[in-house]
Amino acid sequence: MSTKPMPSLARSDFPADFRWGCSTSSYQIEGAARLDGKGESIWDRFCATPGRIRDASHGDVACDHYHRWPEDLDLARALGVNAYRFSVAWPRVLPQGRGGVNERGLDFYERLVDGCLARGLEPWLTLYHWDLPQALQEQGGWLSRDTVDAFAEYTELVARRLGDRVKHWITHNEPWCSALMGHHDGVHAPGLKSLAAGLQACHHILLSHGRALPVLRSHVKDARAGITLSLHPIRAASDSDADQAAVRRHDGSRNRWFLDPLHGRGYPADTWALYGAHAPRMHDGDLAEIARPCDFLGINYYFPEVVADATGANPIGTRVVEPEGVERTAFGWQVDPQGMVELLQRVQRDYAPAEVYLTENGSTYEDELLPDGRIEDLQRRSYLARHLAAARDARAQGVPLRGYFAWSLLDNFEWAEGYTRRFGLVHVDYATQQRRIKASGRWYSDFLHGRGDAA
Ligand code: FCB
Repeated sequence: MSTKPMPSLARSDFPADFRWGCSTSSYQIEGAARLDGKGESIWDRFCATPGRIRDASHGDVACDHYHRWPEDLDLARALGVNAYRFSVAWPRVLPQGRGGVNERGLDFYERLVDGCLARGLEPWLTLYHWDLPQALQEQGGWLSRDTVDAFAEYTELVARRLGDRVKHWITHNEPWCSALMGHHDGVHAPGLKSLAAGLQACHHILLSHGRALPVLRSHVKDARAGITLSLHPIRAASDSDADQAAVRRHDGSRNRWFLDPLHGRGYPADTWALYGAHAPRMHDGDLAEIARPCDFLGINYYFPEVVADATGANPIGTRVVEPEGVERTAFGWQVDPQGMVELLQRVQRDYAPAEVYLTENGSTYEDELLPDGRIEDLQRRSYLARHLAAARDARAQGVPLRGYFAWSLLDNFEWAEGYTRRFGLVHVDYATQQRRIKASGRWYSDFLHGRGDAA
């Protein structure tokens, strides 16, 4: 149990127009995997493959949010947030990925968006949080350039339908994960294990982001569009020159590989050279498309990475090490709010995005449901409070941070970890689908409502 003192903190430490939110994603909460015309996604397929998911589970039902969304939006409202980030499941609106539109799928997102607006929640829509239509995977998925065009068509469909009410658009969530974890590490859908495939998928995902931007701008009046990256401060395992040099190389693959092309610098030359024959194939003009200006940068911050030199072991020549004696969540992820300040400052110094939003930040612990129905998740509460204090500190140091979205509103399907990891501010009893606000959620609500000293 963390014994770290709670920071002193108040909502009034932040400007009145700061976005306070919570995040979710379609596959992790919706369920209704085969209902109302939804097509199969790569995550449906991946979960059906034995050995892929830790508890052999899947998102068929998940939090049944497809049916329970009014209650879930009521919970978000009870927390006091003013923004709600969700994603659209591409195969729910285009079951085959392209062509035939599933009106019932679009109707669901229309109800959800209207439900947000009715509750004073600003909808933040992510177009791609990893659930590619399986039909497109069978034509090559993100390894095929055609998927870039398919993404633009899908963007247009959703923008035309919801663009009168949704003004904040995130093209992709964490290309590192969808590209590299999905195509190189093989631990996420579609489960491939090739570095070249991972980097090619990554290139097409970034390209599709760039191609979607003018589509959003032409179909959404006053659109605010950006992309969300998972970024990490990188630290050296020791003072040795070799480990210090490893930091720069690792940063190239983890951070600069995404930040540089999005900011008009192309892929970092040092990292490109290390990838060698694995580097992606590009066409003329791709880099200009990827670099189209965004209105904001979304950052998901979870943990720093500590690296040691491992020249020869892999193209980047680094190895992630797990230092002893540091605070960790139940997932083993390091808890390091100061790392968030460092990361935000670094992004600002090196790339100067006009606006930054923390689009995810959160923690998993072994929550205990007490006999009286309470969940006293004091570690998550501490995690949340300390990261909000870090957000305040980053702002004080000049970072144009305009919003914070907690991951997650609800406990949900945590990808390869199945239902074994709970990240919610709201507990979900999967047997009954009962929701219960945890102590962390009550704290967030007190903080947001300015009730007493939430700290
Ligand atoms: C992020 C994902 C999100 C969730 C959290 C814990 O990488 O974007 O869907 O799984 O991690």
